[in-house]
Amino acid sequence: MKIFAITLLAGLSLGAGAALAQQPAAANIENGKKHFTTDGCYQCHGTLGNGAAISGPRLSNTELPFEAFLMQLRQPANEMPPYEAKIISDATVADIYAYMKSLPPSPDAKSLPLLTGMGVK
Ligand code: HEC
Repeated sequence: MKIFAITLLAGLSLGAGAALAQQPAAANIENGKKHFTTDGCYQCHGTLGNGAAISGPRLSNTELPFEAFLMQLRQPANEMPPYEAKIISDATVADIYAYMKSLPPSPDAKSLPLLTGMGVK
């Protein structure tokens, strides 16, 4: 557990530049998009990775380094089910990561008329 925490912290502190270097160069966004659905990520994180308060955090436009993203699948922090490499390879996770990075950030709730009409300020 201690080793996991140190590895995670090291991964997080490497920052985005180092993360891009670790990501395989030929990440395939279309394949990532496919797997985000077929591997069930969307069920908890939303079809566009926007997240939901009760099921899973936002992943679209994630600022996590690739290493930390991968680590969450292999050894989830809390309630997310684990995904072993024989279920989803590192290369496929890199494709899912690239797909999430390609998406715009979630819009601010204040910019959505439907929500402001419901009293979101
Ligand atoms: C059953 C619901 C569920 C499914 C399916 C699921 N997740 Fe998660 N995910 C979560 C929850 C809940 C968290 C919050 C941390 C935890 O509980 O481990 C999380 C956290 C994450 C995080 C960390 C986000 C952050 O900013 O800290 C990543 C990355 C992630 N999930 C990726 C994925 C990917 C990729 C898939 C599909 C292969 C997936 N998840 C499938 C529920 C799910």
